[in-house]
Amino acid sequence: MKILITAGPTREPIDPVRFLSNRSSGRMGYALARAFVKQEHQVLLISGPTSLDVPDHVDYLPVESAQDMHDAVAHALPRVDIAIFCAAVADYTPVEVAPQKIKKSDDTITLTLKKTTDILGSARSVHGFTGFLVGFAAETEHLEAHARAKLIAKHCDMIIANDVSQSGIGFDSHDNEVLIVEAEENTKLPRDSKEHLAHHLATIILQRHASKRGTE
Ligand code: CTP
Repeated sequence: MKILITAGPTREPIDPVRFLSNRSSGRMGYALARAFVKQEHQVLLISGPTSLDVPDHVDYLPVESAQDMHDAVAHALPRVDIAIFCAAVADYTPVEVAPQKIKKSDDTITLTLKKTTDILGSARSVHGFTGFLVGFAAETEHLEAHARAKLIAKHCDMIIANDVSQSGIGFDSHDNEVLIVEAEENTKLPRDSKEHLAHHLATIILQRHASKRGTE
């Protein structure tokens, strides 16, 4: 099976030395990549900048901005069976990138931002992806309701939701606790290391993909 995984944060440039980003460590996506490789699947890992070692035996494509990640994903999607969007993609990016370092002048400064392309949201509707589509949802409240809304809006087969308001799990942590939201059911995976969770998630994703293909 060919599996695309996006991971890590994106960096949105402000000027040649500055960017907007977020606290994503990339650990969940890298752990998933290792879990699928261990089960002898072919993984393309499209990753924003992280401090992690590149997992063995994956095809690794480093990117920086949301636009770079979008372009790499759009190019790869026609060739994969399963696509898992784990990356914490910036929702907004500066309208203009200053060609030179912005010098300190006024007491306040205003950055104007524009929406980035929703990579997951465009996988089916724009790029016509027909494989098994998995998104992540980082929420601070109404976990199931928000995840279910994303499942429908982004035409996913599965959303893996985590509550980022709880300390010690999710963003920039070694552990996670997730709620798997699918059309007909929800499955809770209790707190565990991202490494262990990744193996459970990989197994569940492969099972669901197989049963979806069986009913097509
Ligand atoms: N995502 C994406 N491209 C974006 C933004 C998000 O592919 N420009 C993907 C993420 O990789 C994740 C899913 O969409 O799989 C949900 O991301 P999340 O940040 O939870 O939700 P948003 O759609 O950005 O909505 P909001 O921030 O309003 O909750």
